[in-house]
Amino acid sequence: MSLLGRLFYKSRKFYDDDFDWNSYTEDSYKRRIETDIESQFQAVAQNDQLGFDAASGHVTVSGSDMHPNHLLILEAIGQLQPKSVHEVGCGGGDHVANGQTLFPQIAFTGGDRGQTQLDMAMSRHPELKDAVALQDITMPLSRHWPRAEFVYSQAVLMHIHTAVSHFVGLANMVNLSDRFVLLMENYQCHNFIADIQNLRDGGHFDWPELYIYRFDGSTGARAILLSREKLDLPEIESDAQIREGLTASDRRLKRSDEDSARGIFGPKN
Ligand SMILES: C[S@@+](CC[C@H](N)C(=O)[O-])C[C@H]1O[C@@H](n2cnc3c(N)ncnc32)[C@H](O)[C@@H]1O
Repeated sequence: MSLLGRLFYKSRKFYDDDFDWNSYTEDSYKRRIETDIESQFQAVAQNDQLGFDAASGHVTVSGSDMHPNHLLILEAIGQLQPKSVHEVGCGGGDHVANGQTLFPQIAFTGGDRGQTQLDMAMSRHPELKDAVALQDITMPLSRHWPRAEFVYSQAVLMHIHTAVSHFVGLANMVNLSDRFVLLMENYQCHNFIADIQNLRDGGHFDWPELYIYRFDGSTGARAILLSREKLDLPEIESDAQIREGLTASDRRLKRSDEDSARGIFGPKN
């Protein structure tokens, strides 16, 4: 290594998440909820505005539209009918609140690593006081974290790029779930399918079987659905399949490859 390289070696920036999560609520999230979501979509729906049609598997919303990604989450829950649902990185709590409103028979919880995010969730949805709690999904699995039949994230793992944290987050999500994991993320920000296959083959998941499906919402959104049981849905075997039709971002795809390359899996059986 050159002398200059040796001088700066210790202070080099290694890998980093997209945001400083300690100041994220003020820096970005509050503003983005207002400008990107609330200005165009219905973020929070009241009981009489939401409906689930079991025959079609579609969720209907009266008033203004719901964001397609958020609608898909509710549709997946409606179709799979888990007994319990947990959102990782629940932020302002809108999806937890909408889910609990639409499916009162299901127990909803949420976790987030940001106390200010949870404060925002409780101020938007005081009824969630006992349902949301601190949880850093990149920490070693805690037996205090809630287990659920359906665990999901929406716009969380896509922002995690520190060292091998996104692998830890993925493994924790699967190991906390008794039946399904839904990933509503930007599918160019990680090689989700390859990373999941490597974690599975390396023995990082507790599940004896793991099926990887594409789940489509009724208004154009798509998600990755991991299931312990076989379902009548299209199976996915590669990242190319979940990225089909998306405009490629070379910057994101390059970073995904770098993130994947840091994984040391297994050994395989
Ligand atoms: C883009 S926001 C999305 C929030 C929410 N899911 C939504 O759709 O409004 C990302 C969220 O992930 C949370 N987060 C980031 N890293 C996390 C981690 N390691 N464990 C749990 N939550 C995390 C952040 O605090 C933030 O609330």
